[in-house]
Order: sequence, then C-alpha cells, then structure tokens
Amino acid sequence: MKDLEIFRKLNCPENVIQHCLAVSKNAVLIAEKVRIPIDKELVRLGGLFHDIGRCRTHSIRHAIEGSKLIRKLDLGEEIANIAERHIGAGITPEEAKKLGLPVKDYTPRSPEEKIVAYADNLTQGNGMISFEESLKRFKRELGEDHPSIKRMIDLHKEIQAWINR
Ligand SMILES: [Fe+2]
Repeated sequence: MKDLEIFRKLNCPENVIQHCLAVSKNAVLIAEKVRIPIDKELVRLGGLFHDIGRCRTHSIRHAIEGSKLIRKLDLGEEIANIAERHIGAGITPEEAKKLGLPVKDYTPRSPEEKIVAYADNLTQGNGMISFEESLKRFKRELGEDHPSIKRMIDLHKEIQAWINR
C-alpha cells in the first residue's frame, strides 16, 4: 500500500494528512543538514506517520494510538517509536502518569526520533517557524516553568550542535 493510501483508508482528515506531509518534508530538510549518521528514509516515513493517530483522536493519546496503528499496519518498530515519542520534546514517565497515559518513558531517543519531534514543533502550515517562535508558543500554552520547556531547549541545542559540527 502506498503511504498516502494508508491515510485515506483510515478516513483521515485532510488537514492531518497535509500536516504529516509538511512535517515529513521539514524533518528531511533538517536531516540533510545534520552532520551525524542519519537514516533519511526513516526520518521521511517517521515524519509522515508521526500523527497518524490523529486519524483516530486529537487528544494527547494520539501518539499512542498512532504507534499502535503503525504496529498493526506492520510499518516497523522504528516508525512506531517515532510516533510514540514525538510530543513536544517527549513525555517522562512521571508526566505520563499525571496525564493519565500508560506510565512509560516517551522521550525521543534516536536521532531520527529527535528530528521528527523537533520538526513537528517548528512546522506551521507547510513552512517552518524559528525555534524562538515555537518556544514562545509552547511557553504560552504550557507556562514558562513547564518541564517540557527545558527539554525543548535541550533538544534544540542538541540538533543545532549536530548541524554545526
Ligand atoms: Fe502529534
């Protein structure tokens, strides 16, 4: 089955599909800039399927739903993990507990997981906003002191270091 046919089969809203395409494109742009070994095809597919869970729900559980769908569709564990760990700069087990999610570490680990999460934060419409702009938005939504703000800054620094190597 072709990539987009999977979304159509799930009756996925068009705006979700467009967002997934944009994140995929932006994630690949970032993957092309980093000077570390990176699986660009995995980044492309991970970006594409990162929000497939939104075909089912727009709640924070969409990451978990997405990973389940990906496993069911046999798209591969690496892509499932990208979807499962893409929210913000990840969710710790303690935060997962507070959010009522299955207690588990949802922080991105592989460079491919990190790049997709980062690209998702920077994607607006079809384009990319600056990290500063995206951080401002998250601070507004979550509050300055939310633990994910620091993780987002750390993720930004890590990826910039890969680019500037
Ligand atoms: Fe998402």
